Amino acid sequence: MTTRKILVTAALPYANGPIHIGHLVEYIQTDIWVRFQRLRGHRCIFVCADDTHGTAITIRARNEQRTEEELIEEVQKRHVQDFSNFQISFDNYGSTNSPENKAICIEIWNAIREQGLVKEKDVEQLYDPKAGTFLADRFVRGTCPKCKSPNQPGDNCSVCSETYSPTELINPVSTLSDTTPEIRSAPHLFIELEQLHDFLVEYTQSGDHLQKEIANYLKGHFLGDDNSPDGRKTLKDWDISRPAPYFGFEIPNHPGNYWYVWFDAPIGYIASTKQWCALNGENLDDWWKSSDVEIHHFLGKDITYFHTLFWPGMLKTAGFTLPKKIHIHGFLTVNGSKMSKSVGTFIKAETYLKHADPAALRYFYASKLTPRVDDIDLSIEEFVNKVNADLVGKVINLASRTAKFVEETGLSVSYPEDGGLFASAATAANSIAEAYEEGDFARATRLICEIADRVNPYVDDVKPWTLRKDPNKAQELQDSCTIALNLFRQLVIYLTPILPELAEKTGRLLNNPIASWSQAQQPIVGTPVSKFEHMMKRLETKDLEKMIEESAQPIDPSDSATTVTANQDNDAALQAEPLAEECTIDNFVKIDLRVARIVNAEHVEEARKLLKLTVSLGGENTRTVFAGIKAAYSPEQLIGRLVVVVANLKPRQMKFGLSEGMVCAAGGGGAEVFLLSPDSGAVPGQRVH
Ligand code: 2FM
Ligand code: ZN
Repeated sequence: MTTRKILVTAALPYANGPIHIGHLVEYIQTDIWVRFQRLRGHRCIFVCADDTHGTAITIRARNEQRTEEELIEEVQKRHVQDFSNFQISFDNYGSTNSPENKAICIEIWNAIREQGLVKEKDVEQLYDPKAGTFLADRFVRGTCPKCKSPNQPGDNCSVCSETYSPTELINPVSTLSDTTPEIRSAPHLFIELEQLHDFLVEYTQSGDHLQKEIANYLKGHFLGDDNSPDGRKTLKDWDISRPAPYFGFEIPNHPGNYWYVWFDAPIGYIASTKQWCALNGENLDDWWKSSDVEIHHFLGKDITYFHTLFWPGMLKTAGFTLPKKIHIHGFLTVNGSKMSKSVGTFIKAETYLKHADPAALRYFYASKLTPRVDDIDLSIEEFVNKVNADLVGKVINLASRTAKFVEETGLSVSYPEDGGLFASAATAANSIAEAYEEGDFARATRLICEIADRVNPYVDDVKPWTLRKDPNKAQELQDSCTIALNLFRQLVIYLTPILPELAEKTGRLLNNPIASWSQAQQPIVGTPVSKFEHMMKRLETKDLEKMIEESAQPIDPSDSATTVTANQDNDAALQAEPLAEECTIDNFVKIDLRVARIVNAEHVEEARKLLKLTVSLGGENTRTVFAGIKAAYSPEQLIGRLVVVVANLKPRQMKFGLSEGMVCAAGGGGAEVFLLSPDSGAVPGQRVH
């Protein structure tokens, strides 16, 4: 096997808040992949850094009456501590506010400029004459232009999620001086991304670098279909500069203008590598400008655009190596819902650590992670079951039930006959490795559990705890424990990328450190067995309940983490059914949508999918509607509720009777049907506009 040279990154966390269990999905995912590569004998370095620039940092620093530098220094220490507690094995953890980063920003910027991609355009922005500065989005608050909620930030509404520019806010107020700002025009620098269109189509659509769903999403939304000239979309210019006050790097030759945080953030990947190179006698170009290196980025779906279009564009223009693979994951939900501070499911890493073992979370996330972009759910019940039944019950129990019986004798001098158990588990190494390589940790853990399921009946059958009572069975006891402990060790080798601490303890127990994937091919014999040390505790539901209780906070409406964001939902539904052709308002008003109440609902004999509904538009105006919602609703659930109907649809004679309208619903059909309901206050007969 040739040794690969791999550089891996996880997204740089913002330096304005703590690490929480949502972040940890990504760092654990990336760390497992990195540890797997190292265990396979590849050269794999893992770099990260804090993302320190931008207005959110400035606002928090101001609120806490300290400098941005003081804030980011403290946050970085905490981040480093949290990551180390979860055994995230970074080779270097830097900061985007570093001299290395500034130098590389300048290098990349110069290349982009020299290649004619930068242009200047005037942008209208709010200006605070009292403070004498332009106001970044987050320094303005006002009334949302859409839902009219007061006291909203300048970029998007925390109540209705609308995104807008600060100049659209109603009654804007500068948070610097509490005065009304005025609109002024200022020059901004833009990168003309469209010049890289062909390259970006090739890079994103080659099938080599991105997950299929991501490639399709980019093609549909930003790039268009290159095969049909009409479908080609023009990439928007990227506004790359921000006027002072801005915490970041000032752009050379543009005093008072700073690079937007998203320009210097990914460059932080390179800067962190540069620090690592300096500490390890390596040359940066051997890692970022060499075709021998595979660069792998891991990140969440919300920052896809930055990493799949801007970033490859920047790297390409400046002559750096392009990422071999961009691994994009979904969001975390807890008990089926978005993490919530008020419910207590917005759990900080440090809170988690007070109540549960980090290894349990590593194992659980691994069991859920696939190469797809789907969101993953942390159901507390499933978490407890999985860790206790699979990890403690099937794996660790193998050692805890046998190790103590061979503490004095050690392992047998030759490996006893085990009915093919070791050999079959050794054969599984390839498929487990393949699953890890593809990022299909769910499959890897399933395969490992399948081995454990074959091994446990062996221990149950030979019953070492009974053998030890019979002095004539000492050899049998030693042999059976040698088998059980070797099979245990084999499982632990396969789990090492996920559970590094368990691997270390197993190495100590059997006096044979785990350092390579290939160790699973050869049993160990004749070695001493150390005193069994506790390996992992069962999870207790009550501890997790305490953790949630401790995490619950009163709702703070100004806190964006508790509120909805525009991009919290994925676009799978939209992909599945793209938007229909444009229609005019005249087309639309032809469809008379009305609020109606379901006054009766019944099954239709012989109809597999239909329910017969009687809906009232008020007064004597009732209609019969046959709706294909039987798999999703029972008649009792429906009677009394308000729905929206198409009231002027031409009646249709069906096998079971005349249908006089249609009930509006979303979803793909079958059990996935969701009726639309108006908000309370609406009454039957009202038109829906
Ligand atoms: O979304 C975020 O949390 C960003 N701080 C990620 C930056 S990743 C990279 F580009 F720096
Ligand atoms: Zn709003």
